[in-house]
Amino acid sequence: MVQGKLEGKVAIITGAAAGLGEGIAETYVKYGAKICMVDLDPNVDKTADRIRGMYPDAQIITVVANVADKQQMIDAAAKTKEAFGSLDVACCNAGVCRLAPFEEMTDETRDFHIDVNIKGVWNTCQAAIPYMLEEGKGAIVIASSVTGDIVADAGEAAYAMTKAALVGLTRCLAVEYADRHIRVNCSQLGYARTPMVEKMAVESNPEDPESAINDIAVGVPMKRLAKPTEVGELFAFLGSDEASYLTGSQVVIDGGSTLPETMSIGTN
Ligand SMILES: NC(=O)c1ccc[n+]([C@@H]2O[C@H](COP(=O)([O-])OP(=O)(O)OC[C@H]3O[C@@H](n4cnc5c(N)ncnc54)[C@H](O)[C@@H]3O)[C@@H](O)[C@H]2O)c1
Repeated sequence: MVQGKLEGKVAIITGAAAGLGEGIAETYVKYGAKICMVDLDPNVDKTADRIRGMYPDAQIITVVANVADKQQMIDAAAKTKEAFGSLDVACCNAGVCRLAPFEEMTDETRDFHIDVNIKGVWNTCQAAIPYMLEEGKGAIVIASSVTGDIVADAGEAAYAMTKAALVGLTRCLAVEYADRHIRVNCSQLGYARTPMVEKMAVESNPEDPESAINDIAVGVPMKRLAKPTEVGELFAFLGSDEASYLTGSQVVIDGGSTLPETMSIGTN
């Protein structure tokens, strides 16, 4: 049954074919939003069908587009407005991560992260904001990370740099649009099991990627990774009117992973 937190809202969600974007899309539909699922991967249609299977009343369109291409994002936002009559929420979720030792990381790999993780969010915001200004209100939720702004592991230079940059973008857009009633917040996730994290596990431990994933949970006080729909719940809150006084916030969602000072001291 549809519950109404996002009833009447129209959201564009990038990177919605898999992983967190899929969880965000499912949660947005659960709360009554009409959604445009954007992804580079044409399988986004299959993901939309899966969600329609769970919620037969779901109102979903899909667009195959690259967030790094500004015109494609302008077109995706226009299609959303055309299909549903407004564009109220932008979930800037699409992102990439490739690990490499810094001294071996190519400029191409660096620029790939900048193009998708920074320019992709930039393009999504620039495509969506004109419709929000037209409506006189809106909400943007940006997928930053604990990585870069708070913590980092070796090999994540390009990823960490780009994810930290999104905190700056969040703060500036929050200030710039506050008096025009567009709220801008970012999520800072620890780890969820998604295709991205499965790929990182292979890059970290090619012989036994499963143990690399299990070992992530060891360092998390809650002893588990997040589920994509748990991240979806945060995106739903930040995109809803329940978050009406939140802007410029960085919301850490990490099962406590950034809290411990050591792995050896303490009574546990
Ligand atoms: N999974 C985690 O633990 C984690 C932690 C912190 C932050 N994040 C961030 O959350 C977001 C989603 O991560 P995920 O783990 O679901 O990733 P994922 O790789 O599992 O899924 C990403 C989706 O985005 C799509 N995509 C990639 N590049 C695109 C592009 N240029 N244009 C359009 N779509 C594109 C992919 O096709 C895929 O469907 C990313 O921004 C990531 O940095 C993830």
